[in-house]
Amino acid sequence: TLPERVTIWEVGPRDGLQNESEIVPVEVKLEFLDRLARVGLPVLEATSFVHPKWVPQLADAEELLAGLHRRDGVRYPVLVPNERGLDRALAAGVAEIAVFASATETFAERNLNSGLDSQFAMFEPVVSRARAEGIAVRGYLSMCFGDPWEGAVPADQVARVGRRLLDLGCAQLSLGDTIGVATPGQVTAVLAALDAAGVGVEALAVHFHDTYGQALANTYAALRHGVSTVDSSAGGLGGCPYAESATGNLATEDLVWMLDGLGIEHGADLDALVATSTWMAERLGRPSPSRVVRALGG
Ligand code: HMG
Ligand code: MG
Repeated sequence: TLPERVTIWEVGPRDGLQNESEIVPVEVKLEFLDRLARVGLPVLEATSFVHPKWVPQLADAEELLAGLHRRDGVRYPVLVPNERGLDRALAAGVAEIAVFASATETFAERNLNSGLDSQFAMFEPVVSRARAEGIAVRGYLSMCFGDPWEGAVPADQVARVGRRLLDLGCAQLSLGDTIGVATPGQVTAVLAALDAAGVGVEALAVHFHDTYGQALANTYAALRHGVSTVDSSAGGLGGCPYAESATGNLATEDLVWMLDGLGIEHGADLDALVATSTWMAERLGRPSPSRVVRALGG
């Protein structure tokens, strides 16, 4: 059975842009966010309060939040790795955050300058302080389906670390295929391991990168399992600067096309979305990799 409705968690402004080498002006980011809000997307991951030297593209997080035109009914979560990031996010008036963990030791070192265990010591005060302030916290888990340094990642390891994020107080767990290597059978296996670890499917989201063209097939496998929150980025922008061979996320247009075909509600206007990604592709100076944008775009 498939869900009747899917929540699209749009990560274009954050995951989509974080890897762009040319700094995108804050005015362009703000217009991108506003266009995405008008498309009807309910969740727009706006930026990250990470170290500006680690992700220079998102060093303008304060300026972006200050200029953000918050539309009714739209949520604007941001990424926060540590207490310094939380202080900055609170000062900027955010209502929702996400911490981001790694399922593997190597990526916890590369992405967070931490470790598989020590990342939890970093997140613990972030999650408890955020919750005390009434701020919802999502937990990302990276490298759930393969790691460029460690290779295969056992499903029970993913379930164990993911369970730990939920036990810490995260309201949702987003399973990341950071480098886009997963195939649908693996998605089913990881979801089964989470079931076995006592994690209910309503707490899960999936986050696929499309490096090997499997993102949509993987999403379908997750929908069949009952997952009803799917991360994607408009036009298929994206990639993680600290993960080798990470390319763009599942394109929101490709997701919307499939959901429409399956009769699953989502609330987004496909034409307006394609127009937004076409506009953004002009700003970035290269065409969108999304097949649907290419098929429908002018
Ligand atoms: P660190 O260098 O170990 O930090 O970085 P530290 O705690 O040792 O502090 C060093 C200095 O940095 C201090 O300043 C801190 O105040 C400052 P000093 O006292 O020397 O003047 N500092 C900060 N400044 C601003 N904002 C902060 C902050 N934190 C410390 N938040 C750290 C550790 C976690 C900060 C660093 O590794 C970092 O910023 N990493 C973020 C990397 C990142 O953003 N990666 C991409 C997002 S994850 C992703 O894309 C995957 C995902 O999409 C899912 C998937 O696809 O799998 C989510
Ligand atoms: Mg990602």
